[in-house]
Amino acid sequence: MGPTPRIPVCLLLLFFVQILAIAAETDNQDFVALRALKDMWQNSTPPTWVGSDPCGNGWDGIMCTKSRVTAITLPSMGLTGQLSGDIEGLSELQSLDLSYNKGLTGSLPSQIGSLTNLSNLILVGCSFSGLIPDMFGSLKQLTYLSLNSNRFIGKIPPSIGNLSNLYWLDLAENQLTGTIPVSNKVAPGLDMLVHARHFHFGKNQLSGTIPSQLFSSNMSLIHVLFESNRLNGSIPSTLGLVQSLEVVRLDRNFLSGPVPSNLNNLTNVSQLFLSNNKLTGPVPNLTGMNLLHSVDMSNNSFDTSDVPQWFLTSQSLTTLIMEKTQLQGKVPEALFSLPNLQTVVLRNNQLNGTLDIGTSRSNYLQLIDLQANFIDDYRETESLNIELILVGNPVCEETNVPEKYCKVSQTNLIYSTDQNNCMPVLCSSGQISSPNCKCACPYSGTLVFRAPSFSDLKNSSRYISLEHSLMLSFQTDHLPVDSVSLSNLRMDSVNYLELRLEVFPYGQNYFNRSGILNIGFVMSNQTFKPPKYFGPFYFLGDKYGNFAEGSMTSNKSLNIGIIIGAAAGGSVLVLLLLLAVVYAFFQKRRAERATTENNPFASWDSNKGSGSIPQLKGARCFSFEVLNKCTDKFSEASELGSGGYGKVYKGTLSTGELVAIKRAQQGSTQGGLEFKTEIELLSRVHHKNVVSLLGFCFDQGEQMLVYEYVPNGTLKDSLSGKSGIRMDWTRRLKVSLGTARGLSYLHELANPPIIHRDIKSNNILLDERLNAKVADFGLSKPMGDSEKGHVTTQVKGTMGYMDPEYYMTQQLTEKSDVYSFGVLMLELVTGRRPLERGKYIVREVRTAMDKTKDLYNLHEILDPAIGLGTTLKGLERYVDLAMRCVEEAGADRPTMGEVVKQIENIMQLAGLNPNAESASTSASYEGESKGNFRHPYGSEASDTSGHFSSSKTEPY
Ligand SMILES: *[C@@H]1O[C@H](CO)[C@@H](O)[C@H](O)[C@H]1NC(C)=O
Ligand SMILES: *[C@@H]1O[C@H](CO)[C@@H](O)[C@H](O)[C@H]1NC(C)=O
Ligand SMILES: *[C@@H]1O[C@H](CO)[C@@H](O)[C@H](O)[C@H]1NC(C)=O
Ligand SMILES: *[C@@H]1O[C@H](CO)[C@@H](O)[C@H](O)[C@H]1NC(C)=O
Repeated sequence: MGPTPRIPVCLLLLFFVQILAIAAETDNQDFVALRALKDMWQNSTPPTWVGSDPCGNGWDGIMCTKSRVTAITLPSMGLTGQLSGDIEGLSELQSLDLSYNKGLTGSLPSQIGSLTNLSNLILVGCSFSGLIPDMFGSLKQLTYLSLNSNRFIGKIPPSIGNLSNLYWLDLAENQLTGTIPVSNKVAPGLDMLVHARHFHFGKNQLSGTIPSQLFSSNMSLIHVLFESNRLNGSIPSTLGLVQSLEVVRLDRNFLSGPVPSNLNNLTNVSQLFLSNNKLTGPVPNLTGMNLLHSVDMSNNSFDTSDVPQWFLTSQSLTTLIMEKTQLQGKVPEALFSLPNLQTVVLRNNQLNGTLDIGTSRSNYLQLIDLQANFIDDYRETESLNIELILVGNPVCEETNVPEKYCKVSQTNLIYSTDQNNCMPVLCSSGQISSPNCKCACPYSGTLVFRAPSFSDLKNSSRYISLEHSLMLSFQTDHLPVDSVSLSNLRMDSVNYLELRLEVFPYGQNYFNRSGILNIGFVMSNQTFKPPKYFGPFYFLGDKYGNFAEGSMTSNKSLNIGIIIGAAAGGSVLVLLLLLAVVYAFFQKRRAERATTENNPFASWDSNKGSGSIPQLKGARCFSFEVLNKCTDKFSEASELGSGGYGKVYKGTLSTGELVAIKRAQQGSTQGGLEFKTEIELLSRVHHKNVVSLLGFCFDQGEQMLVYEYVPNGTLKDSLSGKSGIRMDWTRRLKVSLGTARGLSYLHELANPPIIHRDIKSNNILLDERLNAKVADFGLSKPMGDSEKGHVTTQVKGTMGYMDPEYYMTQQLTEKSDVYSFGVLMLELVTGRRPLERGKYIVREVRTAMDKTKDLYNLHEILDPAIGLGTTLKGLERYVDLAMRCVEEAGADRPTMGEVVKQIENIMQLAGLNPNAESASTSASYEGESKGNFRHPYGSEASDTSGHFSSSKTEPY
């Protein structure tokens, strides 16, 4: 009995002393001020805001140094009420972020002006109103001031000019009026902010002229965003002195007069928007602005002029928009060969003569819009893979111009993050399936890009890079993020690019409060840097619905629990642990229930010979109604063709996404098995040279597969000339390479490996850039571990392509696909079907071949459309390779991986870049970022390397 109980008593005492010491930690003045804030916010503050020790007890969102509160960070906390003037008590406060709390109203208390240590004041996306207090001018330490997306009225207080350390000034999207203040003898003004990099004033009602005094060579501005105000008068020539400028938006004002001729002195400008003003004089001469990416000067009253010379010399230009700018004369062909060009919009001008787009056009070109001009002839040299709009030109009254250029089609902007190659789950309400297929409640909001420097909005690689940079940013800050998802791409009325962002929690279904406020802060104070071509951005977070609260998830409160638990002799701790175990158990049970209850295959009928329920990864389940509607009741007009066991229809989902729907004929029982095989296999494969399965329908006795829509049809149609696509030697090489890559992926990288068993020109589809995609997996076989490289099966395939060894031995190996691919290669050079009028292509080539002669003496057999007469570089080696693929014995044939390498070599020898396609889908490189706009995660090359959980390891 003696000394043993003394130790716990000592410990107990120690703990009490600690608790007392902690309780005394927060400065009383700060505590009183915080309590005043809390009173004004009623019950909307985080539940940890209890007790009298904000610093010691770890109130959510409060940071302290010694006993003083230095930061309040509460974005997206659902706060309601007003901001109390008692905030002035927090005299050591350096950072205040109350962004994304729509319930915060009323005017800002002028007492904020006495927080002389404040360096960050971030109140984005609240509902504050009234005037911006003039007292802000005394916040001498302020570097970052974001008041955008509120309801502030009145003038920009001139005293802001006193904030000599200001780096970021965002007042956009309020209802500010009056002029932009500049300094005079008695008052300060914004011209004094020589360290400011950002003037974001867009979407207000600012009026008067842009004072010429505002700009000088002392300024270090990179973003001047004055769009959508009521500014009038002329553009001051002093703007041309601010050499650091990168983005200039003066569009949607009432600016008049000529554009100052020294504008082209701004050689760092990449985005220039002057559209929708009343500018006059000559079309600005932008010669020398060598980093220019996007230009929009539409709807001004410039003098009538020919197409200016700088159009043809701006090598970095991606986007040229000059609608209604009085341009006349012929559109120069050279314009379209600017190497980075993506979009040209020259609507409503007086352009005339013949349109010649030429053959050396930019690889990135997506849209040429020449509506309402006087173009009277168009020479099409080849079928275009770009959108060309000629509506409203005389040329459309003639009959010989393809009709598709004479109508305006609705372009759909679609992007949504793919599921990460996993089993889809349906979730209970309030939760959704993450890209990693886990049910969770994401933190969401809208990402807004105010001036992107690109316009190839359908290029998904840009959004994938954005996802990567988001993940990287969250991971750098050690935030509990599992994955991110982007969707709802749109352009708003002033050409801001918007995307919905969802951020999913890591390791649990819900974020806790500190998770949300840390993520919110990464977005609100611009710690996150998107890839530079997205330009200036802001984020508007939604209110987060469900926090994971209580001691299970909050580290801070758990610590306190442990202290109390230990102090109370451990019993509370035991109780807590017990609770945690029970909680975890029920969570698991709930998750299990959710997956089984919501299994879309509950109605799968294994008696119909369709086997067991398909094992799915990433495919969606569509109802019959949805598909019926999107194909206009499977109308004849939407029929694309007949597949192996039914018809294929084109459909448009409610999101606007185009799909191809393969519908099995009623009562096709053999189709049942093929159906299941195809879903299972395809949902597991993701490669740009393999057609993607988006989902399926097994409903009302129907069996349908929903694929991505591949616009240019089958290779067979192209080879036969049916689709009108000219297949020259280069394109044939490219198609061979794509197909080989797709097959090599199936054989070597898919898990389990897949043998296609039916490679033929009918089953190779071509997308809008003539990338080959392997399709139709109805006969495919996965190779399980037990099969060790071959399976014995009933022989299936298509005559002419079928491997004779397989035919005779019934032993299926990858080499059977290699044989069929060899036949396909021969089909590609000869343009003949493998079995035609009793002639077998393999034998024909073998017989005709003479290696001592030019082109191996194959002139007779070669497809004339390949470009006979031009030098067919590499053709002999290509034929050699094809002949190796069709060797009698499988063992003598190369693997698909080897075939890919060989074709790449052939292309290089022919002077072609085998990776040209991937280069064109990756982001065009932007000018070096500089100064404060350094990326925290280094080079953008990492964008595509993908080494974290949300990334897609497969090319898109
Ligand atoms: C153009 O910029 C240079 C600095 O690069 C400056 O010296 C010059 O005065 C500027 N010219 C005009 C007309 O603004
Ligand atoms: C445009 O500016 C460049 C360089 O300042 C000059 O060489 C060219 O003559 C100008 N073009 C026109 C049409 O004024
Ligand atoms: C195009 O317009 C210009 C200017 O109006 C005129 O001089 C020229 O003759 C026109 N060319 C054609 C081919 O109509
Ligand atoms: C964001 O906030 C942190 C902490 O207050 C600060 O160190 C950082 O510089 C801020 N980032 C930017 C871009 O202002």
